[in-house]
This record gives sequence, structure tokens and C-alpha cells, in this order.
Amino acid sequence: MSYVRVAALSELAEDTPKRVEIDGTPVSLVRTEGEVFAINDICSHANVSLSEGEVEDCSIECWLHGSSFDLRTGKPSGLPATRPVPVYPVKIEGDDVLVSVTQES
Ligand code: FES
Repeated sequence: MSYVRVAALSELAEDTPKRVEIDGTPVSLVRTEGEVFAINDICSHANVSLSEGEVEDCSIECWLHGSSFDLRTGKPSGLPATRPVPVYPVKIEGDDVLVSVTQES
């Protein structure tokens, strides 16, 4: 599994998603509740960016129709989305945030 440095920890504001691309994969980075999560940036219901949504209770809410996805598992908590969004393992090394998109966690 190869990790790529995607951001500095110090540049990630709490509960404010940041969209990055890793080898062509759009990823939303979310710093919340003392951890950093990486979730695919595309809602599983339609092709919109999750990083434009709100973060609450370790979930990210799709701004278009309101499904929330658990940042730990990618599972939707309610309709209209029924399929999970891929989530990826994150490592923190000093101020570096590293993500691997070669394997979903
Ligand atoms: S596009 Fe995300 S819930 Fe519909």
C-alpha cells in the first residue's frame, strides 16, 4: 500500500473538508474529533462533491439531497444514498498527512 503526502496537518481546519486529488482520485480530507479522515469526494447517489458538504458527528453530509456518510466507514446513514463511499487509510507523520488510495480501508 503506497501512501502519498496530500496536505500539511496544520493547514486542515477542523470540520472544514479539503478536496485533493491522488492519482486522479478525488478525495475529501476531513479533520474532526482529533483525527483526519479520507473519503472519496464523490457522493454515491449522484456525481457531486462531498467536500462542499457539512461535517457533523464524524459524518459528512451531501449538500444536494442530504445523505450523511460516516467518515470511518463510508456508509450512508440515510436515503437517498444507499451505497457506501470508499474511505481510505490515513497516516500522520509530523505535520504531513498521508493517504493511500490503492487500498480502501
Ligand atoms: S447527490 Fe448526494 S445524496 Fe443525492
